[in-house]
Amino acid sequence: MTKQVILAAHFPGVNNTTVWSDPASGSQIAFDSFERFARTAERGKFDFFFLAEGLRLREQRGRIHDLDVVGRPDALTVLAGLAAVTTRLGLTGTVNATFNEPYELARKLATLDHLSGGRAGWNIVTSSDAFTGENFRRGGYLDRADRYTRAAEVLQTARELWATWPAGEVVADPASGVFVRHGAPGAFVHKGQHIDIEGHFTVPRSPQGRPLIIQAGDSGPGRDFAARDADAIFSRHGTFEDAKAFYADVKGRMAGFGRRPDELKILPASTFVLGDTEEEARERAHHVRRQQVSPQTAILLLEQLWNKDLSDFDPEGPLPAFDPVLDDDSIIKGRARMFDDPVATAQQWRALSEEKGLGIRDLIIEVFGRQTFIGTPASVAETLNRYVQEDAADGFILVPHIVPGGLDEFVDQVVPLLQERGVLRADYTTTTLRGHLGLAHE
Ligand SMILES: Cc1cc2nc3c(=O)[nH]c(=O)nc-3n(C[C@H](O)[C@H](O)[C@H](O)COP(=O)(O)O)c2cc1C
Repeated sequence: MTKQVILAAHFPGVNNTTVWSDPASGSQIAFDSFERFARTAERGKFDFFFLAEGLRLREQRGRIHDLDVVGRPDALTVLAGLAAVTTRLGLTGTVNATFNEPYELARKLATLDHLSGGRAGWNIVTSSDAFTGENFRRGGYLDRADRYTRAAEVLQTARELWATWPAGEVVADPASGVFVRHGAPGAFVHKGQHIDIEGHFTVPRSPQGRPLIIQAGDSGPGRDFAARDADAIFSRHGTFEDAKAFYADVKGRMAGFGRRPDELKILPASTFVLGDTEEEARERAHHVRRQQVSPQTAILLLEQLWNKDLSDFDPEGPLPAFDPVLDDDSIIKGRARMFDDPVATAQQWRALSEEKGLGIRDLIIEVFGRQTFIGTPASVAETLNRYVQEDAADGFILVPHIVPGGLDEFVDQVVPLLQERGVLRADYTTTTLRGHLGLAHE
């Protein structure tokens, strides 16, 4: 059976890949940037809009890491605003399970589901670093090993809270003078390892019963969490073979939790650059990469591997001849560690730089990845569809490099080709996010 391609639109995050230096780049915080981006996604019949979250500004060498775009408003509040200016597009946001309480989370997400008529989704992340924790009352109290036991319990508790109001509980019947059917709605008791609460939940059952649950961690425990509890995964595995291996791994874990493979949608983060010819697309892609890796950013990214101040190095010059500093204290704070074996990676980078004659900036451009899909609209549509039909993905979370116009070309040029192939809806046929993805309501 031909699978449908799921499409999500990621308002690009706080990373060097978000280009703020281009004349076409608009505000990172004004509501009209979010609105314009979301409206474009809805025009393209996307399944959902997606926002990341950062709970502390990153620092590098003790300075705020502003080159990666700093200062973004709160995700759920932005989504609530977008609920008023869109009608069908799913609205999903990243919200941390470590630093938030399940009662608050459940209230806010059920509220978003009400405001949007059943279009809410929650990307549960678990970042537990003490640096971020300094912003919160409990500080960095959670051991890294516990991040998923807490996340699982937070989600379980939220599900219990969402289930406390049966459908049709509010009757508001003037004739009998009855407002709620059962007198004391929302009663709950949860006593567990991390959460010990009881009371009454304040928000009546929302249209989806519970929002779409998305997971975005990559470790073994993260994959098990997704296989057991999530409706979708935001993955980092974008190249075809890697994506296929990830897909098989995660879907293979599901039977152990009594679930069918089609109950979890796997959506790699994907970038794209289009051109009228393949060559033009490649040239544009190279230009975008140079915007994403400015000379200053090249040095900062190099420092993240070397874990050392390299501000004296020439971005066009050779890599450091010495090895990276191995230290638990990272030069970058507020970002997950990106390299398992820095010394080995540095050796590979040096070898590549010598082999291809690359200075620091060109080397960084090369090793920090190219865009996922580069080509003409026809070739990109064909490749996206191949990924889905050959089980490397169920769809994609597309991350343009610019706001608010970064999705325009895709929606104007690639979406019609996917629709022609019958793998993307010509119009919405359901009103809720779970409905768009073919998932049951609770
Ligand atoms: C594609 C992707 C996107 C993520 N986005 C965010 C984010 O926006 N905010 C955040 O706090 N963590 C984010 N994370 C972090 C993870 O959700 C997770 O909490 C962290 O990677 C630890 O889990 P792990 O050890 O299973 O990878 C992201 C992870 C992945 C793979």
